[in-house]
Amino acid sequence: MLTTLLFLPLFSGIYVSGAAVDFRASTIERRQALTLRAQQRNLGSFDLTPILPPASVTSWRAVNAPESCTTYAGQQDGSECRTDLTAVSIQFEDCGDEFVVCRCADAEMSMNDVFERLGRVPIGLRRYGGVVMVAAQAGSDTAHAYTWTSGEHTGDIHFFGDCGMETWVHEFMHAFDSAPDRPRPQSNGSRWQNALATDTCVPDSYSLTNAVEAYAQLGLLIIYQVVYGILPPGFTADCMSNQLAYMTSLPLFNGSTLFGNNCDIQDGPPARHTRPPNILDPSRTFQTQRPSSTEGGPAVMATSRRSGANSTVTVELNSSLLICMFALFSGIWLFS
Ligand SMILES: *[C@@H]1O[C@H](CO)[C@@H](O)[C@H](O)[C@H]1NC(C)=O
Ligand SMILES: *[C@@H]1O[C@H](CO)[C@@H](O)[C@H](O)[C@H]1NC(C)=O
Ligand SMILES: *[C@@H]1O[C@H](CO)[C@@H](O)[C@H](O)[C@H]1NC(C)=O
Ligand SMILES: *[C@@H]1O[C@H](CO)[C@@H](O)[C@H](O)[C@H]1NC(C)=O
Repeated sequence: MLTTLLFLPLFSGIYVSGAAVDFRASTIERRQALTLRAQQRNLGSFDLTPILPPASVTSWRAVNAPESCTTYAGQQDGSECRTDLTAVSIQFEDCGDEFVVCRCADAEMSMNDVFERLGRVPIGLRRYGGVVMVAAQAGSDTAHAYTWTSGEHTGDIHFFGDCGMETWVHEFMHAFDSAPDRPRPQSNGSRWQNALATDTCVPDSYSLTNAVEAYAQLGLLIIYQVVYGILPPGFTADCMSNQLAYMTSLPLFNGSTLFGNNCDIQDGPPARHTRPPNILDPSRTFQTQRPSSTEGGPAVMATSRRSGANSTVTVELNSSLLICMFALFSGIWLFS
């Protein structure tokens, strides 16, 4: 089995413990760092949260934790969860297929946090995610996350600590990058590699980690651009025009479907959640926003929506969403 782990450590500091030790590595291939210029230290000049309206949860039920979670729980060395693990299957208003979440009892993110943050990942991207597992930050210095992107191609995402929307979207970009029909991440393909080879910069320091991380980070900028029509403050297109041309050509970033009300989208690589919801909410339509609306003020919604009065759970929309900052450390570990 060949498995790739993509780590996104948050906040500064060296990531020295945690999930990396969970897996017995016999072969380790660290993907090549990029030698381009980073436009910014991090992506702190913008906040995606206000432009990611949460889809409401229409139902959820407790389920037995799948093996893809229980494997990482228990008292063994490298376990990600030493307390109780619970699992739920959630249905959002925009997708008939359920999303499975496993939560460790001592995780910093509550199940309500998870419902809200998962629901904020735009449906066009969320449909690619596998099982979500949330656990405690534990001994690690930083909140962090990783996504399974090869091997069994699950797109499963494991979060540790209180991860903000940038982290959630970043990890779902990895899940998209490793869509089920791809033997290798799309970011390992020649189009993306050529784009990097012909450009002179990447968005931020974390993007320099390797081509896969650069791909996920640029996805965050593109989502901003889909909504506002321009790149986030402080970023210019000229030195990364080939990466932008590649990324904006992906059907994923069609605003109508990315921020639509339906995971049944017939474009791009096959997704992991594709059954349309029973009731399509026609009021959830995508509208671009005026760039000036990014400056202060209340949350801007990328789609208009009704109140979701008959949701069976209350999701606290105001729970604190930490804007986690990306640290310059990561890599891809390949295990055979
Ligand atoms: C990336 O592609 C190269 C060949 O172009 C291949 O040797 C390598 O294993 C691939 N890496 C991953 C992670 O798929
Ligand atoms: C975006 O998606 C909508 C809805 O499927 C479609 O009508 C439209 O043509 C798409 N736009 C582009 C540029 O592909
Ligand atoms: C939710 O509301 C819609 C329309 O208001 C209704 O058609 C639907 O049956 C309701 N669902 C539940 C579970 O109450
Ligand atoms: C969110 O917070 C604002 C200001 O603190 C408050 O006015 C609003 O009612 C809150 N919304 C929810 C859903 O709690």
